[in-house]
Amino acid sequence: MSTPIPIVAALGNMAQSAWLDALAGAFAAAGLNADVAVFDGRARDARYAVVWLPPPELFTTETGLRAVFNVGAGVEGLLTNPALPPDLPIIRLVDAGMAPKMAEYVCFYLARATRGLDRFGGPQKLRDWNVDRPRGTPPAVGVMGIGAIGAYIARAVTVFGYPALGWSRTEKRIDGVRCYAGADGLREFLAQSNFLVNVLPLTNETENLLDAKLFAQLPRGAHLINVGRGGTIVDADLIRALDSGQLGSAVLDVFRVEPLPREHPFWHHPRITVTPHLSGPTPREPAAAQIAEAIVRLEAGASPATLPGFVERARGY
Ligand code: GLV
Repeated sequence: MSTPIPIVAALGNMAQSAWLDALAGAFAAAGLNADVAVFDGRARDARYAVVWLPPPELFTTETGLRAVFNVGAGVEGLLTNPALPPDLPIIRLVDAGMAPKMAEYVCFYLARATRGLDRFGGPQKLRDWNVDRPRGTPPAVGVMGIGAIGAYIARAVTVFGYPALGWSRTEKRIDGVRCYAGADGLREFLAQSNFLVNVLPLTNETENLLDAKLFAQLPRGAHLINVGRGGTIVDADLIRALDSGQLGSAVLDVFRVEPLPREHPFWHHPRITVTPHLSGPTPREPAAAQIAEAIVRLEAGASPATLPGFVERARGY
């Protein structure tokens, strides 16, 4: 029997024991002889780390890591870890079951807004039968950020008859979705997006990208749904755009600071719906299976850069 592969887990505020069970199950199913332990401050010469917002001590203690697995799609919290070694390969999750849940969330809020159910606490409160019924041309849904999750969301909205547009940094093609790219494509994309769904990761390029100038390019009364990262939005500009009527409403699941501070104006703005970062809870089993599969490939000699979810640090995702 080979020596077990030493793996260290540092999962922040995630449910440790449930994650350890999921990892153990996935490693066994993949035929991996692995020994996973929670980081306790002591070195165990781990070969791989499985993390969510790990303490810097993990990297100063475990100095022989060959790769670190981020138990989530967004890596900005890991990239800003002050002790992250510059050459340590990072592998993040790719969809891993988050995309369908996020698409469900987006479609739920589309259904709500297109029926006027977000107004005045809904028709039941007013005993009002005369609400909007979506009989006209369906509004177009523009998805910013069309990686695995954004592309899934864009395709999902077409199932319900919404025309879908996508925007990304570099050119992409998705069947049934009109795709735009780069600074040149942004204006045309925004001008047609009655609903703007933001799925962008937080990078140097996307930070504060959704500002007054960008909101002004949307059709008047457009709606925003943010399931990407809060730091991509200029909070004060969003409030101004809602107050002026340039934006009709905003559904926000992610925030610049999380948990959203209790005194933040988003909590009680009449045109904002706040949800506490729950649109795409990471399903443990598919996530663990993706990590196990990647470790199998690394152990067989694959280069980390060839794995799905390999993070290009200069790009920021
Ligand atoms: C959640 O926000 C994630 O990055 O997976």
